[in-house]
Amino acid sequence: MHILLSTLLLLSSYVSAHKEPKTPQEVEAQRALQAAAYHCAPAVAEFTLQRQRIFAQKVLAGRPSLPGYDDLFAEGAYLDENESGGTNQKLLSCVPVKETKIQNNTCVLTPVVTEGPYYHTQGHPIRQNIAELEPGLLLLLDIGVIDVETCKPLPNVLVDIWHANATGYYAGHPVPAPKLVNEQPQVGGKRAGLLSAFPRTDFEETFLRGAWPTDANGVAQFTTIYPGYYTGRATHIHAKVFPDWETLPNGTFKSHRMVHVGQFFFDDATNMKIDRMHPYTDNPIADTRGRTRNWRDSLNIFEDSLGPEKEYNPVFDLQFLGGVISQGLVGYITMAVNASADYPNYWSG
Ligand SMILES: *[C@@H]1O[C@H](CO)[C@@H](O)[C@H](O)[C@H]1NC(C)=O
Ligand SMILES: *[C@@H]1O[C@H](CO)[C@@H](O)[C@H](O)[C@H]1NC(C)=O
Ligand SMILES: *[C@@H]1O[C@H](CO)[C@@H](O)[C@H](O)[C@H]1NC(C)=O
Ligand SMILES: *[C@@H]1O[C@H](CO)[C@@H](O)[C@H](O)[C@H]1NC(C)=O
Ligand SMILES: *[C@@H]1O[C@H](CO)[C@@H](O)[C@H](O)[C@H]1NC(C)=O
Repeated sequence: MHILLSTLLLLSSYVSAHKEPKTPQEVEAQRALQAAAYHCAPAVAEFTLQRQRIFAQKVLAGRPSLPGYDDLFAEGAYLDENESGGTNQKLLSCVPVKETKIQNNTCVLTPVVTEGPYYHTQGHPIRQNIAELEPGLLLLLDIGVIDVETCKPLPNVLVDIWHANATGYYAGHPVPAPKLVNEQPQVGGKRAGLLSAFPRTDFEETFLRGAWPTDANGVAQFTTIYPGYYTGRATHIHAKVFPDWETLPNGTFKSHRMVHVGQFFFDDATNMKIDRMHPYTDNPIADTRGRTRNWRDSLNIFEDSLGPEKEYNPVFDLQFLGGVISQGLVGYITMAVNASADYPNYWSG
């Protein structure tokens, strides 16, 4: 079967690479070949898809040729074998870690803050690599979820994330509303520093949006790019957590109960280094309004993410994937969620 298909394809490219068919026999031969190839297109597509899937399983999570990848993500790589007491300790059990593969603050919590204006209630694909064709610095995310009630990892909950591209735009929202093209940031008041949200004008784009269920260790890993900034906001990644969802035929999902909505941040020193890397340098506000630091984040979102007692850590713990920053970063964060909660699906603010 496969041999037949490749032969057909070879033959058709052979034919089309040659001079135009002239005689009626040649024309008929070409027509028949095209019809045959067309007829086989679904089978070819399926065959290709199968190979892509196999490749994707290995590659799309960022696996190829990254130094240290296996060490970083291998199950059990996080805990010293003696610290686990031979009890097959889970990643997120909050045991102090001696080895520095992850740091002490891995057991951090992020409270509930606004979902903002750029969530798409439907259409986020279920996938680990959300980068699509967006250029930027490779960023692997290792997002842990624990249940606040039991302090145990929560397997099989859907972690749904979305963030801006390297120059500060969300998929689906490429331009401001026509009337607001020359809008200036709000001065004073609750929305100080912000522009009105760009409306959704593109219903196809899905870049930098996606959801993936946590594994047995309560961890969901993603491959993406480091986000860019936009007017008024510190660099951040949004996340929601759903314990119940349905997969739709097109690979997206319909969610039910939501147990968490929050935002993750990056330390300003790293943000400002990355601001100087291409394509982050192309941010349209780089030379005008510039980046918003965490402490100046609008709507107090960064401050709120620290929690009422300022004891939460909403900032990714970042590590180099290679020897130099341009080889990419891995960011670890852990959310503590109330697994029995049920927040309304709109939490705008
Ligand atoms: C674990 O403990 C044993 C005995 O106490 C010791 O011999 C071994 O080196 C330890 N392993 C590690 C990885 O520290
Ligand atoms: C981790 O915590 C321990 C004990 O709380 C402390 O001694 C150590 O310096 C910390 N390590 C890091 C990398 O912060
Ligand atoms: C997938 O299907 C849902 C439900 O019909 C729809 O809302 C969504 O836009 C679709 N997404 C894509 C990427 O086609
Ligand atoms: C980010 O998205 C916007 C809007 O779609 C696009 O114009 C811009 O080129 C993208 N940034 C990069 C670095 O590709
Ligand atoms: C979790 O949510 C349930 C249901 O809303 C509530 O009764 C419980 O107090 C919450 N637990 C915590 C620790 O917030």
